[in-house]
Amino acid sequence: MNIQIINGPNLNLLGVREKSIYGDSSFEDYLVALRKRYANITINYYQSNVEGEIINKLHEVGFSSDGIVINAGAYTHTSVAISDAIAGIKTPVIEVHISNVYKREEFRHKSLLATNCRGVIAGFGMDSYRLAVENFVNG
Ligand code: DQA
Repeated sequence: MNIQIINGPNLNLLGVREKSIYGDSSFEDYLVALRKRYANITINYYQSNVEGEIINKLHEVGFSSDGIVINAGAYTHTSVAISDAIAGIKTPVIEVHISNVYKREEFRHKSLLATNCRGVIAGFGMDSYRLAVENFVNG
């Protein structure tokens, strides 16, 4: 099984950025633990701050991988183009957020992506990613 994790803008700053909201672990450190826990599957990771590059990645892996876990960061709330890319590929996509976006500013309550995703997981810290992977592993 092949799972692709895609992180969007500013998530390269995890562990540095707004630690009270996003915690103090970098994604790279978290990924080591996640890969150890799911040693029998392949977890690929991609991060970009650029909307078009995220779309290119979705096109690249969206017909071959078994599942995509995406945290599109702020693009979640704004990007028709990423939503269309998710709609256009074959691989199921799960939207994740580290923070509970529904406890935060109102502009974070709306996801343009969710309608084209299998489901949404938000508010469990980094564990949101594991919960998404677990869903794909359980089929
Ligand atoms: C986020 C929530 C978004 O509203 C925000 O823009 C992010 C991170 C999260 O993981 O909680 O960059 O997607």
